[in-house]
Amino acid sequence: MLNEKVEKALNDQINEELFSYYIYLSMGAYFNAESLDGFASWMELQAQEEQEHAMRIFRYVNDRGGRVKLQEIEKPKMEWNSPLDAFENAFDHEQYITGKIHELVDLAEQENDKATLQMLDWFIEEQVEEEATTEAIVDKLDMVGTSGSGLLALDRELGSRQVTDEEE
Ligand code: FEO
Repeated sequence: MLNEKVEKALNDQINEELFSYYIYLSMGAYFNAESLDGFASWMELQAQEEQEHAMRIFRYVNDRGGRVKLQEIEKPKMEWNSPLDAFENAFDHEQYITGKIHELVDLAEQENDKATLQMLDWFIEEQVEEEATTEAIVDKLDMVGTSGSGLLALDRELGSRQVTDEEE
């Protein structure tokens, strides 16, 4: 049985993951409008991954006899100044989410909730990957600068992202 504090924090994290879904979907729409279809498709897959993160916690709360309480999802930003601006936003967002996961770990430790700690291990690892991936794309966009051909090459590369087992 989940204690109340942990249950509340997990419900808040479900909301953070659903907001992540929303913001990446919004970035996907932005890239689509900019005719950068590869970037758009990368963002749609990223959004899908975030929905799966929310569902992992959703199922976990249910399995532990807790109550999932869905909350309002904040309206995401819709416009960015450039692909670099969008990916810097994505990288910042992932660092924010990492902070949230670490706060959850601190709480689960305080509450001596070993099952929640074990469930969060997956998220700790995942956040390392999420930050590394978005940071690498920021670096590439920095290198590309204002080069149209560089941007199109990166668009092709990002468009080749496949759904991994974890995302399915
Ligand atoms: Fe669910 Fe990208 O963190």
